[in-house]
Amino acid sequence: MATIAIDPRVSSGTADFVASSHKMFIDGRFVAAASGKTFPVYNPATGEVLTHVPEAESEDVNRAVAAARRAFDEGPWPRMSASERGRILWRVSELLEKHNDEFAELESLDNGKPFSVARIADVPLAADMFRYMAGWTTKITGRTFPISFPGDFHSYTLREPIGVVAQIIPWNFPLLMAAWKVAPALAAGCTVVLKLAEQTPLSGLRLAQLFDEAGMPPGALNVITGFGEGAGAPLAAHDDVDKIAFTGSTEVGKLIVKAATGNLKKVSLELGGKSPAIVFPDARIDHAIQGTASAIFFNHGQCCCAGSRLYIHEKIFDQVVEGVSHVAEDIKVAPGLDPSSQMGPLVSDEQYKKVVGYIESGLAEGAHIAAGGPVSGVERGYFVRPTVLTGTNPKMKVVQEEIFGPVVCAVPFSDKELDAILKRANDSIYGLAASVWTDNLTIAHKVSRGLRAGTVWVNCHNVFDAALPFGGYKQSGWGREMGEEVLNNYLETKAVTIAL
Ligand code: NAI
Ligand code: MG
Repeated sequence: MATIAIDPRVSSGTADFVASSHKMFIDGRFVAAASGKTFPVYNPATGEVLTHVPEAESEDVNRAVAAARRAFDEGPWPRMSASERGRILWRVSELLEKHNDEFAELESLDNGKPFSVARIADVPLAADMFRYMAGWTTKITGRTFPISFPGDFHSYTLREPIGVVAQIIPWNFPLLMAAWKVAPALAAGCTVVLKLAEQTPLSGLRLAQLFDEAGMPPGALNVITGFGEGAGAPLAAHDDVDKIAFTGSTEVGKLIVKAATGNLKKVSLELGGKSPAIVFPDARIDHAIQGTASAIFFNHGQCCCAGSRLYIHEKIFDQVVEGVSHVAEDIKVAPGLDPSSQMGPLVSDEQYKKVVGYIESGLAEGAHIAAGGPVSGVERGYFVRPTVLTGTNPKMKVVQEEIFGPVVCAVPFSDKELDAILKRANDSIYGLAASVWTDNLTIAHKVSRGLRAGTVWVNCHNVFDAALPFGGYKQSGWGREMGEEVLNNYLETKAVTIAL
């Protein structure tokens, strides 16, 4: 397959990988789609085709699920010692570290994000997730119970892998989302079919090679590439899948729930957000300006937890808006492989049009632009300038809906009662994350309690750790990623009672 326009700045190893004939990882082998079909992968910095990858359809999904089924029912993965499973996951983390910059190049080429960010954030966090979960393999335990049923009994629980797990991930953190999904499922002893996002399949395909190198038994991890309807939907509906874990839009999350009803497979969902960042007048202003700007502009706003509703106390409103707008104007927007880039292009033409459409709808509904705007000034590629909107009202689409781009709505508040500001912050169908900016201990604690969100950050935003559970209230999802808590997604509890 002819490959076009790999950026000359990438290393020869990465260029060779991108140019190679891409295969899916099914049953321990690298294979083409049954139909032989492929689809193009684009470089969002130029809009040009980077390479092609296999297009999985039902037949491929069936093959991958059958391989995972065999690996679960008969294969070594769920049966090997916990320590050995942990060792393989640990090896994957070491291999990721060894190839850190190569993965960062792939993320930058495929997703558009700055290489400099991917190499210190996406890839190390992914490696850390594997290392953290490698440690859990040997610590998954049941409990014993002093039961009061008449007689003499010994009762205990066993924690067992749920079975064959299907996982569907988005494009905003391609490698990291793969790690968040795959590491805990495998640590629990499940076998996995992972479907990568169609926009960003490259780092996941490279990760499959690392698993192969690390000694993964055939079928325990299968990695497929394809579209939502062609590959995702049959995976979600598959009767031989015991559990589905999904990250993406709330709209598709609802389709996943419906598709899962056939065999009542277990479902966990990590969906959209419209996260508030609330700045109180006693906050350290410069810190809050930098922090709330990075809350929305990190990863070009393509974060489910992006701080996209910025509530600022009226006393400091002008100062904070001005400060955040300065930060926005200073951000260097350039291709991710340009060493000076602080913000690359959005991931795709579709996403670009969506985000620009939101900015235009905000303007049409009467919002004002304090920084940025719908025109990027960059000739090609899917670039959007970091944008600050003021003069919005709570009914506007830009305030209610997830934009998933570098666009923040700054809103003043004058409320003295914390309940009133909490009510505004909680006025969303979503409940994924929030941040509070204050040096007042009482406000920090009271607002943290009152926010209906799975994560609350105080005087920070976007702090993630493999040990910390992450997930949503309300329509932001079901279940949690990471931490000890994620293991609940992938384990069944069996109660055993023995009459003595
Ligand atoms: P999406 O939800 O359509 O795609 C996410 C994943 O689901 C991809 O792997 C896709 O192939 C798969 N998928 C799509 N339709 C499916 C179906 N019917 N059955 C099974 N799998 C399916 O998200 P998309 O289209 O990439 O982005 C649309 C919007 O979703 C974004 O603008 C953003 O607002 C939101 N989003 C939220 C994310 C999050 O982390 N919460 C991540 C990505 C997108
Ligand atoms: Mg979609």
